[in-house]
Amino acid sequence: MAEIVLAIGCAHTPQLHTVAADWDIRAERDRGDGIPLWFKGRKLPYAELEAARSEENLAELLAMPVREAALEASFAAMDRLHDAFVEARPDAVIIVGNDQHEIFTDFVPSFSVIAADEIRNMPRTQEQVGRLPVGIAISDHGHLPQAEKVFPGHRELGLHLARQLVGGHGFDVTICHQKPTVTGAKSLLYGMPHAYGFLYNNIMRDHIVPQVPVDVNCWNYDNSPTAARCYDFGAALAEAIAGWDGPERIALLTTGGLTHFVVDEEWDRDFLRAMAEDDRDRLRSIPQSELMTGTSECKSWIATSAASAAAGLAMEVVDYQKLYRTEGGTGSSCAFVRWN
Ligand SMILES: [Fe+2]
Repeated sequence: MAEIVLAIGCAHTPQLHTVAADWDIRAERDRGDGIPLWFKGRKLPYAELEAARSEENLAELLAMPVREAALEASFAAMDRLHDAFVEARPDAVIIVGNDQHEIFTDFVPSFSVIAADEIRNMPRTQEQVGRLPVGIAISDHGHLPQAEKVFPGHRELGLHLARQLVGGHGFDVTICHQKPTVTGAKSLLYGMPHAYGFLYNNIMRDHIVPQVPVDVNCWNYDNSPTAARCYDFGAALAEAIAGWDGPERIALLTTGGLTHFVVDEEWDRDFLRAMAEDDRDRLRSIPQSELMTGTSECKSWIATSAASAAAGLAMEVVDYQKLYRTEGGTGSSCAFVRWN
């Protein structure tokens, strides 16, 4: 019988893979209202956001030494998570990730499983780089390889998970028999979405084991599952893993979040508490208005937390860092968490 021996939640953001001074490239875009700025359930123009946060004195946290210390601590935390991954000796990984028009564009499933023997990741083409928002391409090394890489998939485990989630738990899961690829003018990359690639490069590194990507639609709100649905999906995923006949030691990985593109430490701390305590009432009731833009990736954390709780694992916060890039508090919060 398969067993979840470790789960990891690790932030990802272009800021982690950009020198601190270059955070200002994105900051200029934020100040110009170039991205939607959701804060505490409301979408604010940048000037109103900065006014609302004036008493927090966030300008002090924009100093280069503060930024560099946050980067250093974040990389130390990722080293610890990588070490935990190696020490857990997983035979297979299930990655609960999300897509942002990278593999799903014309067709968007709410939940999907990639059940394939091989999964490829590769650099972007020059045309794809040209379609990116400002300040993104310089961080591509955080989640894309320099040359094409072929990772082993775990097709049979993926099919098993889909059968159990659909037949046993009533989740309508799309099966992808190969990694979906967007082609033509909308194509941003031919490899895996950044949420997955980030884990290859920063957590798994050279310790590659067969994988099943499980995608939770966080980014396309029209059919993005609710927080409650994500929690229940995670609990069902744990049952499906426990029902797999193979002897595998399974690691569950997720990435993204926490609050961004506007950092809200109060929200993050409560979210970490709720996951640590398996406060399912809170986790299941987080409204969509608190899970917008980048923060929507917390939906995959909710599923992973529920799966970990169902498997009897305890959560530990390895580190929590805030990467501020404007006085209004835009940037990324970064949580580094393990369950075992
Ligand atoms: Fe992301």
